[in-house]
Amino acid sequence: MSNLPEGFKVRNIQLNDFEQVKEALKFLTEVEPLTKERYEQVIKYWETQYLMDGKTLKYYVPVIVKLDDTSKEKEVEVAAVGTVVIEQKLIHGGATLGHIEDIAVNGKYQGLKLGKFLINDLTKYAKDNGCYKVTLYCDPKNVGFYEKCSYVNSSVEMHLKF
Ligand code: ACO
Repeated sequence: MSNLPEGFKVRNIQLNDFEQVKEALKFLTEVEPLTKERYEQVIKYWETQYLMDGKTLKYYVPVIVKLDDTSKEKEVEVAAVGTVVIEQKLIHGGATLGHIEDIAVNGKYQGLKLGKFLINDLTKYAKDNGCYKVTLYCDPKNVGFYEKCSYVNSSVEMHLKF
């Protein structure tokens, strides 16, 4: 497990992260139109979704926050965000599978190993909660990054857009 660089901390996403999470996600894809109301509905929805054990959250959505250089407890802004969703399956004896989604490091903070920390943290959540595997889809330009995080390129993504 890689360590977070000095001056950052990780915590769960919060309702008041709206603007900063949006800023980070813009480095991944189009985010608008996302209203604060919709953002809050989604965060609150995630907080109600549990696995069959009734206590493990199905959505784990951490943010990495930049801390103030002098007052180390003070948060400056969200630097990165990512999601893992745990899917309950029938195959493999009714096992669970983790899906890593929507990884975004704000451009100001790319190259500082925040992405790698995030992937390790999301992977650990899935593993600690019994998943037999974790999967993700990515652009070919990011394959090298995921390989650095120990992921293996093993399939082709198929999709149909609406
Ligand atoms: N290709 C090859 N290697 C890479 C790449 C890349 N695109 N990006 C980083 N690396 C390498 C780094 O050089 C580093 O190598 P090292 O350990 O040998 O020094 C290692 O991977 C870890 O790099 P980080 O510093 O952790 O990378 P960063 O924090 O910049 O995060 C990320 C990488 C997530 C791709 C970031 O640049 C980003 O947010 N990009 C825009 C949004 C995006 O493409 N997100 C991923 C979408 S896929 C998904 O969501 C499932």
